[in-house]
Amino acid sequence: MSTRQWEPIEANALVVSCVIPGNPLVALQSLQSQYGFVHPEAFDLVAQAFNISRAEVFGIVTYYSDLRTELINGTQVRVCMGEACQAVGARALAGELEHFESNHSETQMHVSEVFCMGNCALGPTAVVGATLVGLANVDAIAALLHEAQS
Ligand code: FES
Repeated sequence: MSTRQWEPIEANALVVSCVIPGNPLVALQSLQSQYGFVHPEAFDLVAQAFNISRAEVFGIVTYYSDLRTELINGTQVRVCMGEACQAVGARALAGELEHFESNHSETQMHVSEVFCMGNCALGPTAVVGATLVGLANVDAIAALLHEAQS
C-alpha cells in the first residue's frame, strides 16, 4: 500500500468530500487509505465536519480495529481469532507467525488479530495486506509477504 505524507489542508478537503451526515466512518477510512493511518490531527477535522465531538471521533477510531493512529512498517497480517478459526489452529498459526517473524527480520510485517472475517469454513483465516487467505499457514503467508515486498 502506498501512502502519502500527512497534509492537513488536503486531509480536510478529503474529509469534507466524504461528509455523509451521521457517518464519519467513511471519512476515517478514506483518511487511513490516503495516509496509512488516521492522524490524530484529523480527529478535529472529522469532528468539525460531522458536528460531533472529538471524543466521539476518538471512540470510533479506537472501536474499529481496522483503524489505526500510527503508521505501521511493512505488510499488515491479520489473523482471525474467531471461534471457528481457533478451533482449527488459529492460535498455533499466530505462534508460528511470531516464530517466523523472529527468524526472518528482513520480512517486515505487522501481525494483529481480528475476529471473524466471514470465512469460517476455510479457517484458519488470515489477511495479508488486502488478500484473504483461507486454510492459512505460514508458508502461504510467507509467499504473499514475499510477493508484496518484492
Ligand atoms: S471465525 Fe475466522 S473467519 Fe470466521
